[in-house]
Amino acid sequence: MDQFLNALPKAELHLHLEGSLEPELMFALAERNGIALAYDSVDELRQAYDFGNLQDFLDLYYQGAAVLQTEQDFYDLTWAYIERCQAQNVIHIEPFFDPQTHTARGIAFETVINGISRALKDAESQHGISTGLIMCFLRHLSEAEAFETLQQATPFLDNIIGIGLDSSEQDNPPAKFTRVFAKARELGLLTVAHAGEEGPAQNVIDALDILKVDRIDHGVRAADDTALMERLAHENIALTVCPLSNTRLRVFDDMSQHNILQMLEQGVKVTVNSDDPAYFGGYLTENFLALEKGLGMTHEQAIQLARNSFQYSFAKPERKAALL
Ligand code: HPA
Ligand code: ZN
Repeated sequence: MDQFLNALPKAELHLHLEGSLEPELMFALAERNGIALAYDSVDELRQAYDFGNLQDFLDLYYQGAAVLQTEQDFYDLTWAYIERCQAQNVIHIEPFFDPQTHTARGIAFETVINGISRALKDAESQHGISTGLIMCFLRHLSEAEAFETLQQATPFLDNIIGIGLDSSEQDNPPAKFTRVFAKARELGLLTVAHAGEEGPAQNVIDALDILKVDRIDHGVRAADDTALMERLAHENIALTVCPLSNTRLRVFDDMSQHNILQMLEQGVKVTVNSDDPAYFGGYLTENFLALEKGLGMTHEQAIQLARNSFQYSFAKPERKAALL
């Protein structure tokens, strides 16, 4: 473990709580809830984490989330992530959750959000970690289902700072969710969207122009479009990049081919994030380490990446000033 990278104060802006469900906790929750898993052991499950693309991963990720049943389960899931943050000096977090993964299984929206929110509150009071929760819509589901989810969130708007868009990017372009994003903005919510992960640079443009998002999740394929790269740099549009995710899902064949440092040097406001650390082999420090090992990231670059994570966070101005 590189002491410098672990001790460097960091923020995480792209983390799916369901993707922080470690196999050990998955087995423990399965047992607690009397649920049978398709794998006999933690090792067997880990061996299945060999993905050819995003959809391969999503299939296992949605399956794994089925062990989450009670408010306490959502608390325990979130708290396990908070403890990782504490150990890696991650002092501000804006985690995602996918309510539809749970409501589709008959779990009440309030069960999910109450468990997560209680853990985030404890993170603030016990560890001084500032937090902002982002609710994602599953883009393979319909616009009507996204609207229904936004409706369910209405009594809990104080618990969330914004909405996002995740799941299968292929065949589910940003424009499918134009109206629900407009409605969320009317409600005073911030907006982000996964775009340009597996999908084309045009999805990044459409997320900006049609969904009017405040930040782009992934966005690495923006590099295919020179004009877009210049726009991202000039308009200070941040990208929440996830290096280990991108290599594990074969967006890049090898870390040595990853474009994050090239984008950083071109003035694009990139940040480092872990996406689904239980599935992709590492939390935030491990992602920074992978950049050092695979791309020769310097300490100066690491400091700039960490600084970007504070600068382009949705932290309140006074908190942001303290972080920077
Ligand atoms: N992309 C799309 N959907 C997701 C991801 C991702 O990287 N992680 C969890 N849901
Ligand atoms: Zn993601």
